[in-house]
Amino acid sequence: MARSATSPVSRRINAPRTPNEMRAQWRAAFARVRAETERRAAHLSAEDQIVQSMADASPTKWHRAHVTWFFETFLLVPHLPGYTIFDQRFPFLFNSYYVAAGPRHARPQRGLITRPNGDDVTAYRAHVDAAVARLIDSVDAADAPRVFEILEIGLHHEQQHQELLITDILHAFAQNPTDPVYDPDWLPPKPAAGPRGFVAVPPGIMAIGHEGPGFCFDNELPFHDELIPDVRIARHLVSNAEWLAFIEAGGYATPSLWLSDGWAAVEAEGWQAPGYWREQDGAWHTMTLGGLKPVDPAGPVLHVSYYEAEAFARFSGKHLPSEAEWETAARAGLIADAFGVAWQWTRSAYLPYPGYRAAAGALGEYNGKFMVSQMVLRGSSLATPDGHERVSYRNFFYPPARWQFSGVRLAEFV
Ligand SMILES: [Fe+2]
Repeated sequence: MARSATSPVSRRINAPRTPNEMRAQWRAAFARVRAETERRAAHLSAEDQIVQSMADASPTKWHRAHVTWFFETFLLVPHLPGYTIFDQRFPFLFNSYYVAAGPRHARPQRGLITRPNGDDVTAYRAHVDAAVARLIDSVDAADAPRVFEILEIGLHHEQQHQELLITDILHAFAQNPTDPVYDPDWLPPKPAAGPRGFVAVPPGIMAIGHEGPGFCFDNELPFHDELIPDVRIARHLVSNAEWLAFIEAGGYATPSLWLSDGWAAVEAEGWQAPGYWREQDGAWHTMTLGGLKPVDPAGPVLHVSYYEAEAFARFSGKHLPSEAEWETAARAGLIADAFGVAWQWTRSAYLPYPGYRAAAGALGEYNGKFMVSQMVLRGSSLATPDGHERVSYRNFFYPPARWQFSGVRLAEFV
């Protein structure tokens, strides 16, 4: 299910074109991304859109407003002459973590914001949509490069929140004893066919990171060399059947398989299986976007933490790949389901690449300040919007997190 590694958003600024063609293509890209957010939210009632099931998750209504605030704050206020902020209370409510952009509401209390209501957020979105369209049409040649650069960051930012909207509501629904269905027509991802087993990653000095034209986040830079050892990487993602064998062998009850922090999480959280798994009528079921479903043995394991991925690798006598090994294998076309199924934990800590510098100003807070205590995941998931994935993309979460569509690909040293 691998898809293009080039964003349709970024592809539109690479081809030569007239200024009017460029404006038309940005208008279309903006409309397309904004519509996708609403398409995802449309499966949800007003009540669904308010709920915040844990501090790490945000309400759908908040996501819809926050991505709008991003355009208002970083694009419209500095670059559209005469722009009027929709509501002076909103920047406090819908700023996420940008300290340089001003004070903000406490993240764990986003679910308490019943007002402004959903209709107010819809009006906010329409106000900003119209202003962005005016800016695209009116920006002069001198400002256009910076305006379109920020617009593009805003679109990729909104796509990230489109995925979070899905993972956050799934977490909320998983707390609901009635097992709500997000989309009755949802189908689970089908793992790629083909031979399983391991394949050698090209060893030696290999370059990773983003290079050339097209969009990337700053954390994918600079393009740089890494030393790849003699290592083999699994062609496929770890399956539910393989995970069931881990459970049945006592994987969750064997401290020697776990990192110390991981075992502490097992004990504190009572983990006995991946997130959302529950035994019902003698069989494992899991909460999905289509509601509660029997666990498919052939499907990829999802909703496992870094701690679980690492313990499973140890149980298997294997390792997790480093992000450089993963990227080298993906660039060489060696691995199935690199994209579109599950984010894949790597053994790489989320650190700056050699020479990385965050941008100045509030937008410099986007990635750089999170480069400690988290682990890198590679690829993309079933909830990642089309066109958002890249071979150099670096996702990152704290080791205990498992509400994302996070899975496992193994590696072995030779
Ligand atoms: Fe954000």
